[in-house]
Amino acid sequence: MEPVDPYEEVARRHQDGLVEVLRQRGVADPAVLRAFAAVPRHRFVDRFRIIPPAGGTVTGDAARWVVVGEDTDALDLVYDPDRALVTAGSVEEGVATSSVSAPGLVAEMLVELDLAPGRRVLEIGAGSGYHAALMAVLVGDPAAVTTVEIDAALAEDARRRLAALGLGAIGVVTGDGSAGFASGAPYDRVVATVGCADVAPAWIDQLSPAGRVLVPLVHGAWHPRVLLSPSPATGPGGVAGRFVAHSGFVTMQGDQAGGSPWPRLPLPAAAGAPPPAVRHQALPPDVAERLHGLDGAVERSGSFALYLSLRDGRAGPGCLCDRPATDDGPVGPGGAYLRGDRLVITGAGDGDALAARLVELTRDWLDLGAPRLDRFRTAFTRRPMTAPRLVEPTTAAGPWVVERLHHRQVVTLADPG
Ligand SMILES: C[S@@+](CC[C@H](N)C(=O)[O-])C[C@H]1O[C@@H](n2cnc3c(N)ncnc32)[C@H](O)[C@@H]1O
Repeated sequence: MEPVDPYEEVARRHQDGLVEVLRQRGVADPAVLRAFAAVPRHRFVDRFRIIPPAGGTVTGDAARWVVVGEDTDALDLVYDPDRALVTAGSVEEGVATSSVSAPGLVAEMLVELDLAPGRRVLEIGAGSGYHAALMAVLVGDPAAVTTVEIDAALAEDARRRLAALGLGAIGVVTGDGSAGFASGAPYDRVVATVGCADVAPAWIDQLSPAGRVLVPLVHGAWHPRVLLSPSPATGPGGVAGRFVAHSGFVTMQGDQAGGSPWPRLPLPAAAGAPPPAVRHQALPPDVAERLHGLDGAVERSGSFALYLSLRDGRAGPGCLCDRPATDDGPVGPGGAYLRGDRLVITGAGDGDALAARLVELTRDWLDLGAPRLDRFRTAFTRRPMTAPRLVEPTTAAGPWVVERLHHRQVVTLADPG
């Protein structure tokens, strides 16, 4: 009999605990739960940093490395359902470039992907290889999963970790995922686990006719996920579908770098500037009252954040935003944010004008009935590459048009029910 490794024993208990939490949170698909029970997350990360993946001020302790495999305390963090483990990035700039995504988020995406034995999958953003491993369990064949990673060192680590767990047949390709991986096509599913500026044309070209693409796609400060399939209405190379959930990811590098239609203003900490002055102002009572009466699930669904991005090209983490990047900052050099029933205004510049605009857009969203995120539909038509932008002026009830690197995206609001 093999001697029991005490560290592995503790890790096993944490892993079982994670599966139980996911079940309690409503992950009902038994196959997804079995995959989490089969794949040990702690084997995918040697060390990680406790910094916010969406970018932020990194100071002292927050930037320390947590080493996995020595101290069992680290396992609390590794098996926290809501914690992304940051493994690469610039501490000075407070920007993460790679993380092992939070298990709760990964579980949602696996359910959205509807994976089943026999399906072939392409992932963009291998990172640690954890997500790819879970998908391999779900499709029942590691060789049916290909994952692309732009960072050669991360790709090599992922190969090593997957091989150690008997999943060496997963194809880990080093390269820019914008090009997909043509020699493994067609795929039944293409999934990006990185914040994208567009749906890359290669992903659509390499998709089987009945396939689906799941993409965290930049809209203002966030990457809400869109689930798309080829559609006759959008012509060759087009796709259509819907918004499925709110999320924030690290930003895609390579061909898509700098391709967001919403300019990202540098946070003062990153630019070496002192933090901006912050003022708080009460929301007009009618708006505060209507927001207060909302079902929290609507707000959490990211619907308002999406709406802001569709209405104003300045929407983003450093400017016009549904909320600061974290609860108590950091905030941009000149901007307006909603926090509870208050407005947070930063910087001297046009903070007051932005605050007035934020109130106007909040009223418009409430007048539309505070629609849930999943009522927003979207279609992508291929077009020659031009400068990405939100087409303005916009109307309160849409449709809204976003010109992306390779597509014209139209967003509409479906009738309720
Ligand atoms: C959030 S992490 C992915 C997490 C990963 N799926 C896991 O389970 O650990 C995003 C990854 O995308 C990678 N990435 C960024 N731009 C890329 C690109 N153009 N092509 C492929 N990978 C890219 C980053 O290096 C990073 O490792």
